[in-house]
Amino acid sequence: MRIIKVKDYQGMSKKVAIIMASQINMKSDCVLGLATGDTPLGMYNELVYMYKEGLIDFKDVITFNLDEYYGIPKDNSQSYKYYMNKNFFNHINIDLENTHIPNGMTDDIEEECRRYDNLIKKMGNIDIQVLGIGRNGHIGFNEPDIQFESCTHLVELDEGTVKANSRFFDNIEDVPKKAISMGIKNIMHAKKIILMASGEEKADAVKKAVEGSISPEVPASVLQLHPDAYLILDEAAASKLSK
Ligand code: PGA
Repeated sequence: MRIIKVKDYQGMSKKVAIIMASQINMKSDCVLGLATGDTPLGMYNELVYMYKEGLIDFKDVITFNLDEYYGIPKDNSQSYKYYMNKNFFNHINIDLENTHIPNGMTDDIEEECRRYDNLIKKMGNIDIQVLGIGRNGHIGFNEPDIQFESCTHLVELDEGTVKANSRFFDNIEDVPKKAISMGIKNIMHAKKIILMASGEEKADAVKKAVEGSISPEVPASVLQLHPDAYLILDEAAASKLSK
C-alpha cells in the first residue's frame, strides 16, 4: 500500500486523472473500474478536460462501475447510471456499450451478480480500480463485516451510509436501503487499485485502513494485502496518520 499525499481535493483529482490517462495511453482498450459519490467528481472533470484537449481517447476503453442502487430505474436521476452519464460518459467519446453498471432493476439478483462477475472476468479483469472510502471504511458498498471472499452481491446499506447518502435525496426515507455491489474479491483482483480520500471526515477511516489490523470490520484495510494499491490523500484525509 503506497500513500501519496497531496495538498487538497484539486491536487488529488489531478493526480488520479494523470494516472488514469497514462493507463489509457499505454493500453487503449484498458478496463477501468469506476466509482461514484462526491470524491471522484473532480477526477472526472479533469479527464473530460484532457479528452477535450486531445490528450486521451476513450474510444476503446471499457468500464465497470462498483455498484448501483437496488430498485432505482437507470433513467432516474438518483441512479448511478444517470450519475455516470451526466458527470462523465456524456462528455467523452466512450462507446456506451463498453460501460457496465450492475442492473439495479433485475428480477433475478443472483443471475445479475453472476453475469457481472463473468463479464469482468471475460474482459480480462480490471486494470485500474478507483475507489472512494466511506466514513465506516467501506469500499464500493462493502460495509463493515463483509466477507473478503465476496464477489458481486446484494448489500444492505449501513445506517450510517444511508445517512451519508441522504444529502443527495430530498428525504432520508427516499434513500435506497439496498444496492448491488462488486465484492472485495472483484476489487482485489484489479491489477492496480487507487483509493482517493479528501477531507477531515475521512481521516479516521483512512487511519484504520492504513494503520489498523486487516479486518472485515474495516473493509478498506484489505488493501494492505494488494500488491499494487495506492492511497491518494489530501492533507485533511491524511491528518490522523502517524507515519
Ligand atoms: P463520497 O463517498 O465520495 O461521496 O464521500 C465515498 C464512499 O462512500 O465510498
